[in-house]
Amino acid sequence: MKVLVINGPNLNMLGKRPKEHYGSLTLYQINDLMVEEAGNDLELEFFQSNSEGDIVTEIQLAIGVFDAIIINPGAYTHTSVAIHDALEIYDGTKIEVHLSEVDNREDFRRVNFVRDVCDKTYAGKHEESYLDAIRYLKNIK
Ligand code: DQA
Repeated sequence: MKVLVINGPNLNMLGKRPKEHYGSLTLYQINDLMVEEAGNDLELEFFQSNSEGDIVTEIQLAIGVFDAIIINPGAYTHTSVAIHDALEIYDGTKIEVHLSEVDNREDFRRVNFVRDVCDKTYAGKHEESYLDAIRYLKNIK
């Protein structure tokens, strides 16, 4: 199973962001943990961008190439109709991931444009949210 892991804006700055919400690991460290958890069962590719259009293009390019997408759209979760629409078109398994408890923070983070077009959501467990997504895909593989 080929899996594309997409991280949106400011997730390249993990390690420098508020630890109470995002934990203390860098994105590279989280990616390494995901590779370890995936073992030989999943083939992972990683993409991070701070640009909405680049994320939309990456989702489009994943059609027919990747079996699943794990996506943390960062702040675009709460604003992006374009990412919602791209995920709606993508026909593989889609998993939304967040490090923090997006539903129990500021009101603006409760607005969510991606959840209804994803198969599953893992949130609020820092890096474990990503590892839960990997475990879910290993189980359905
Ligand atoms: C986030 C939550 C978003 O609200 C925030 O803008 C982020 C990260 C998370 O992983 O908890 O950048 O997606």
